[in-house]
Amino acid sequence: MEKKAVLSCIQPTGDMHLGNYFGAIKNWVDLQKDYRCMYGVVDYHAMTMPYDVDKLRLNTWELITNLMACGIETNNLFVQSLVPEHAELSWILNCYCSYGQLTRMTQFKDKSSQVGELGKDDFVSVGLLSYPVLQASDILIYRADYVPVGKDQEQHLELTRDIAQRFNNAVGKEFFVLPEALYTDTPKIRSTADPSRKMSKSAGEKHYISVFAESERIRKQIKSAVTDTGEVDKNQMSEGVHNLFELIKACGNLLAYDALLEDYNKGKLKYSDLKDVTASSVLELVKPFQERKLQINLNKKDIKDKVRSSSHEIRKVAQETLKEVKELVGLLNVKF
Ligand code: TRP
Repeated sequence: MEKKAVLSCIQPTGDMHLGNYFGAIKNWVDLQKDYRCMYGVVDYHAMTMPYDVDKLRLNTWELITNLMACGIETNNLFVQSLVPEHAELSWILNCYCSYGQLTRMTQFKDKSSQVGELGKDDFVSVGLLSYPVLQASDILIYRADYVPVGKDQEQHLELTRDIAQRFNNAVGKEFFVLPEALYTDTPKIRSTADPSRKMSKSAGEKHYISVFAESERIRKQIKSAVTDTGEVDKNQMSEGVHNLFELIKACGNLLAYDALLEDYNKGKLKYSDLKDVTASSVLELVKPFQERKLQINLNKKDIKDKVRSSSHEIRKVAQETLKEVKELVGLLNVKF
């Protein structure tokens, strides 16, 4: 039987941290065994908020390198802007999506209210509003069956299905596959500096641990992790301590996890030991990724060529879909 198609995408916004790795990338790597996977670095999406032109290009290559270093196969990777059909389909699907529904998207509401806060000006682009239509195009153009995403993307996935359904009704056939979100139970990693919030880049440098940071920095960040604050509730593990346990488990160091938990339950766990084990578990996990990244960077031209050709291969599917869409909606299909 033919393998089902999985598609997911990620924005090129710089560093990759342990929250990204455990929340998404590790799952992407594992899915490659059983599915036909396509993973996009979505640079068009990254233009919807204020950004730095030179950084966008650098971040795109950086993210590709990082994904490859973590175990994503090059053949499964593409860059969104190297497949311009996404943008073309997006225009067409704009005409199958209601304006009201877009204005009601929670991510749009959040981000459009953030724009003023970021300083500069309070410009909210149409790109930000129609962002989910571009996302729908990313998915529908490959007729993806499953889309591994976090719960925060649930609304966008529903919108994608609505658009697909409206399109199918309009053209009178089941043209687009209605994609399903694939929610995997992934560990939710928190900031070690403030365990009440999740690990993320937006909160600032001390709130995330980069997968590609130097060992010394990783060790230091974990050493200074917040454990118990204020009153200690004997019956409940504090968020900070729990987060370190989660990290050890996520890194697959289960023997150490069990032993430390036993000590904790007996009330004789030393947090310095917990932190040492957390640091060594994380370092053991990231070491091969960091080594692979060094290898990849030895020959940058090689990865550029590889990504160009994998994008080119993946593009063939997108071109085929767009050709049929144009036929269905009454646009000219003329070859120049
Ligand atoms: N909106 C997604 C995010 O911010 C990124 C994304 C763009 C995406 N296109 C996609 C995710 C298609 C899944 C499928 O995380």
